[in-house]
Amino acid sequence: MKPPEPLILAIESSCDDTSVAVLRGSVPLSNVISSQLVHNQFGGVVPEMASREHMRNIRKVAEQAIHEADISVSQLDAIAYTKGPGLPGSLMVGASFAKGLALSVGKPLISVNHMEAHVLSLLIGEKSPTFPFICLVVSGGHTLLVMVEEWNKMQILGTSTDDAVGEAFDKCAKLLGLGYPGGKFIDDQAKKGNPKAFPFPVAKTAPFCFSYSGVKTSFLYFLREKEPIWIEENLPDICASIQFALLKPLVDASNKALQEFGIGQLGIAGGVAANSSLRSQLSSLCEKMGANFYFPAFEYCTDNAAMIGRAACFKYQQGIFAELSEHTESRLAIGQS
Ligand code: KG4
Ligand code: ZN
Repeated sequence: MKPPEPLILAIESSCDDTSVAVLRGSVPLSNVISSQLVHNQFGGVVPEMASREHMRNIRKVAEQAIHEADISVSQLDAIAYTKGPGLPGSLMVGASFAKGLALSVGKPLISVNHMEAHVLSLLIGEKSPTFPFICLVVSGGHTLLVMVEEWNKMQILGTSTDDAVGEAFDKCAKLLGLGYPGGKFIDDQAKKGNPKAFPFPVAKTAPFCFSYSGVKTSFLYFLREKEPIWIEENLPDICASIQFALLKPLVDASNKALQEFGIGQLGIAGGVAANSSLRSQLSSLCEKMGANFYFPAFEYCTDNAAMIGRAACFKYQQGIFAELSEHTESRLAIGQS
């Protein structure tokens, strides 16, 4: 008889979202996310504030996740947490909470790589890819094209040499005076605009590599010459055009990877995977190439604990547990967890 699926409580605190989820195997029973609004006024995450906010929020987020899942902690089989990469202070709050809980209820601990968890968020839900597949991981901190051979075997095909694409979205939105994080604001405005209105340069890089510093600078110079009223009147076209330039390298690299590796499955993950234009462009690309396209539900794109629990489920099934003495690692890379 098949053993029952494990009941796992997972904690994510790598940046500015405090999240706790409860999963039965690969199925989330709850996924509570508390986003820290305190950073909005600064146009970016203030690390010291982030760890303080995590400390303030984590207990009530955990209580809510347990309540929504309708379980008691004594039923849990394991406690999972994000080991890295992320902000050191933020990671430490989640890890310490996880360790305290594991110790007090006598359950094993599982440490999870945040980037691997973004990839494995594609395996939550019914329409999931099978291994191997190609995954574009696009967030505020990372831009990676990854060959996913197994849940624990991922090879980076290429990455950004400077800013991450989400960071570039956020910086462009800041120049436009839109809110933080700005990716969603640009996405919303771009829906009403013409992507060919203003030709911003698209970086030419080595295959599967990305660079956003050039386009960002050109955007800054473009805006400097314009009157605020002109910018306001042309906001949809400006957003659609800068979004086109930010996304084109991602679409081109995905196209090349699908052709070169002959793998008929492409997935996207991370906060920027919520972008409507990226989804529709990659969906059309896959349709043209006869490949299957996968993307997580919106709540599993940006940072969330359900993806940590999904990754932890694989580790639980293999009996891979963490020691209480295990450290968090702010620079942990894919394949090093
Ligand atoms: O994965 P995530 O929540 O955090 C990191 O691990 O970085 O990603 C956050 C990033 C931010 O840069 C945000 O602007 C971007 O995801 N983002 C978007 C959209 N929604 C969130 N970027 C473009 N379009 C969106 N709709
Ligand atoms: Zn993330």
